[in-house]
Amino acid sequence: MTMRIVSVVGARPNLMKLAPVDRELAKRPDVEHVIVHTGQHYDAEMSDTFFEELWIPAPDYHLGVGSGSHAIQTAAVMQRLEPILVELRPDFVLVYGDVNSTVAAALVAAKLGLRVGHVEAGLRSGDWTMPEEINRVLTDRLAELLFIPSRDAAANLAAEGVAADRVHFVGNVMIDSLCWALPGALERNVPARHGLAQGGYVVVTLHRPSNVDDPATLRLLVDALQCLSRERPIVFPVHPRARMRMDAAGVSAGGGAGGDLRLIAPLGYLDMLGLVASAALVITDSGGLQEETTFLGVPCLTVRPNTERPITCAHGTNRLVPARGDAILAAAERAVARRPPVRPVIERWDGRTAQRIAGVVCDGECFDVEAADQANDIAPELADRPSGQPGRAEMFATKEVLS
Ligand code: UD1
Repeated sequence: MTMRIVSVVGARPNLMKLAPVDRELAKRPDVEHVIVHTGQHYDAEMSDTFFEELWIPAPDYHLGVGSGSHAIQTAAVMQRLEPILVELRPDFVLVYGDVNSTVAAALVAAKLGLRVGHVEAGLRSGDWTMPEEINRVLTDRLAELLFIPSRDAAANLAAEGVAADRVHFVGNVMIDSLCWALPGALERNVPARHGLAQGGYVVVTLHRPSNVDDPATLRLLVDALQCLSRERPIVFPVHPRARMRMDAAGVSAGGGAGGDLRLIAPLGYLDMLGLVASAALVITDSGGLQEETTFLGVPCLTVRPNTERPITCAHGTNRLVPARGDAILAAAERAVARRPPVRPVIERWDGRTAQRIAGVVCDGECFDVEAADQANDIAPELADRPSGQPGRAEMFATKEVLS
């Protein structure tokens, strides 16, 4: 009998999580995978490009929800998704990450009595002022199967009283996409196309309300970047939300301060990956980039007081930094100087997460945290690759591991 699985996605960071799961499910003749796009992100550069580059089939349903307040956006997803799920009666609904579309879909599905799986479950920043934290906690409460990327997520869920048999330690699905796309991304010679030397530039993304909504903070951050760009060029693909705030606050690059700060349109997945892989440093407030830089061994500064991805600080290349100019400049210098000689290896960030998810959903497999072996079961073809790309180890300033 055919198993019908519905994946609901809506925002840019959902798409690299969906792609490997879709590819894995497509291998199974007895599975019908239906993709619903809520339309939370609608600009071509925030959505369509990712479908094309990640080989995700066009969505079967598009809800056209668009932007709005949190309540309006969440409610619109719920209203438009419900009749589709009622009609389809899927065996499983998969939701991804922590965006408004995630919690909205989980709530609709759970109330219809459908089985829900949450991909990237159990992450907690402990910061209830972040809309994503609310989305994470609620989605995990609503989902039956919780697919966690790292062991700390199991501890978070256990602390909330979640039964261990709902939790599957499958690894990080973002890394599946990264492994799949990296060779093609490197072939694009993205740094050269931007006139940048390998390992000689900084990539920035900032879009969180805490960094861009207050004009004073936004100005401070852009000033700090302008100053930092006197050392090495900075490429900052600007999220539409940040662009809007910059325009409203009259913040722009330049300002007579010298340096080379480039504010550019958002990049597609492959160009962004190609750029990040050869960067000296990434400065961000994104969740995904904290993980991608850790996997690539590229130093990362996260401009936030906390992270739901502490493993990227404890075992990876990520450091938290406050939104202060002096702190960012000092941390940037330290991070570049103390770049680790080889990329960190994180348990189960190995390119096989989607395979495990499909195994749980379709075959009833179990990836119990306790039973999981502690070994780094990294795919052999990835095991010895130095950070960034082959042959880059000699470029590291020191052999010292970040302290
Ligand atoms: C959403 C997620 C955030 C994630 C981010 C990645 C929530 C609560 N937040 O934030 O966790 O890190 O996506 O991109 O779900 N806009 C456009 N074009 C688009 C999409 C948005 O111009 O295609 C503009 C609109 O002005 C919109 C604003 O960006 O109001 C914010 O979009 P929204 O979807 O509400 O949240 P993001 O800030 O993108």
